[in-house]
Amino acid sequence: MAEIDHVIAQWISYYLPYLLASLLLLWVLKMKGSDLRHRWFAFLMHYINKDMDPKIEELKKDFFSSLSSITSHDPELRKKKGIKILEIGVGTGVNFQYYPDGSHLIVVDPNPHFAKYYDENRKKFPNIHSEEILITTGEEMTGVADSSVDVVVVTLVLCSVGDAHQILKNVVRVLVPGGKLYILEHIKEFNPDKYWIRSVLQEFLSVSGIWPFLFDGCCLNRDFHSALDSAGFSKVEAEKFYAPLTKLLFLMIKPHLKAIAVK
Ligand SMILES: C[S@@+](CC[C@H](N)C(=O)[O-])C[C@H]1O[C@@H](n2cnc3c(N)ncnc32)[C@H](O)[C@@H]1O
Repeated sequence: MAEIDHVIAQWISYYLPYLLASLLLLWVLKMKGSDLRHRWFAFLMHYINKDMDPKIEELKKDFFSSLSSITSHDPELRKKKGIKILEIGVGTGVNFQYYPDGSHLIVVDPNPHFAKYYDENRKKFPNIHSEEILITTGEEMTGVADSSVDVVVVTLVLCSVGDAHQILKNVVRVLVPGGKLYILEHIKEFNPDKYWIRSVLQEFLSVSGIWPFLFDGCCLNRDFHSALDSAGFSKVEAEKFYAPLTKLLFLMIKPHLKAIAVK
């Protein structure tokens, strides 16, 4: 058995009671209204993001490094060497540190309970002109004009959306010609022969609804590579890889896809 599968088996034996207790707690919360689940998820993301793994920071730094070589379509931003960025599913705002100074950031998220964490975070980055969260989904976001942004950023969002195709269509709509989408997502196991336990667990936890229930709709069994290819971009550079996540809880989301797509 591959080493990773052994660790996953250990994970199950350690964490199953906690998982069941959490499910019970969430079920009670659900009885009191789905708003509490959104509140819980915003708090959870805030808690998880407080001490981000330095290896993930390194990975993101490298992934977003080419943002600084993009020239904005907006003459005012060009003077400041900034760019106009739309981030879909911004959550607590974990990507500020990778954006070029002088940039203008528009953000979209359907969960209003992220606003207080996002507002706390954006105060730390006065060199970026960040707008308040537009409370809407990436499928809708009618408030974002056609051909109006240089870059769209999507990180760990498509796993929980209703219609990833519609979001990608909207991304193409709002990007200026030549604009770029930066996307980093966890996906379903892409080497199921080797990591079959993870593959089976991803399927079980998603289809049973356990994982989506705990993590606000997140599914472990999705892949977005073909959706990206058919979304209407002129060029897509995508790579599947294992994220350097070390915490046991994150073993289920190690398989990742990173891509830069050009309109
Ligand atoms: C796992 S969090 C990731 C947050 C942040 N992008 C990050 O990398 O930490 C998923 C985010 O996607 C948002 N989300 C869920 N469904 C969405 C949708 N249909 N459109 C846009 N955002 C959505 C959630 O509210 C949440 O903020």
